[in-house]
Amino acid sequence: VTEPDLKGRHVVISAGGTREPLDPVRFLGNRSSGKQGYALARTAAARGARVTLIAANSALPDPAGVDVVPVGTALQLREAVLEASADADAVVMAAAVADFRPAVYAAGKIKKKDDQEPEPITLVRNPDILAEVSAERARPGQVIVGFAAETDDVLANGRAKLKRKGCDLLVVNEVGESRTFGSEENEAVVLGADGSETAVPHGPKEALAETVWGLVVERLH
Ligand code: C5P
Repeated sequence: VTEPDLKGRHVVISAGGTREPLDPVRFLGNRSSGKQGYALARTAAARGARVTLIAANSALPDPAGVDVVPVGTALQLREAVLEASADADAVVMAAAVADFRPAVYAAGKIKKKDDQEPEPITLVRNPDILAEVSAERARPGQVIVGFAAETDDVLANGRAKLKRKGCDLLVVNEVGESRTFGSEENEAVVLGADGSETAVPHGPKEALAETVWGLVVERLH
């Protein structure tokens, strides 16, 4: 039996992966399926929360009883997260947000020209939404959770990232070929700003989601 320990709470979750358009038909994207974020949304709703799911380009069906806000780009995701976070008790940034976007958006489809080399793509930085939400704390006591995919020195890199982002919890998972992205399962360590370290063994994304909510509930007052 799931305890309704998030009853009366509003939680905001970002999920999926942003797409940064080059022209009307092309984009720079990533392999995030949205499965971990959707598992977080379903489990939070089952624990009694009011859930806002900011969904970036996910093909998954809307979870029942959840407010879904579809977005495309990192800038749209930022707007939606900032708006929904204003009265949130917890914000969980599970989305894979593009660090960079093309500097120019071509209003018409970019064409190849027979006798010319292609133009290089120039990128500019996207804002770091997790760092921004963590620095602002729209509501006192708001609990903020980030995700980090690392390929090496997972714990050391995770600790450094937790500090840099300023969030309360960071879910760190090791990624490699065919691990994590698009998969039904996950394996992670959840690092706390208070020094805590919670290992979550390989298992369904729901199980990791439940562990995250347990740690969030401990930090809510
Ligand atoms: O720095 P890195 O991309 O590894 O950080 C991952 C975490 O930061 C995730 O929680 C992701 O949602 C968030 N993020 C963000 N804005 C960005 C890049 C990442 O909020 N521009």
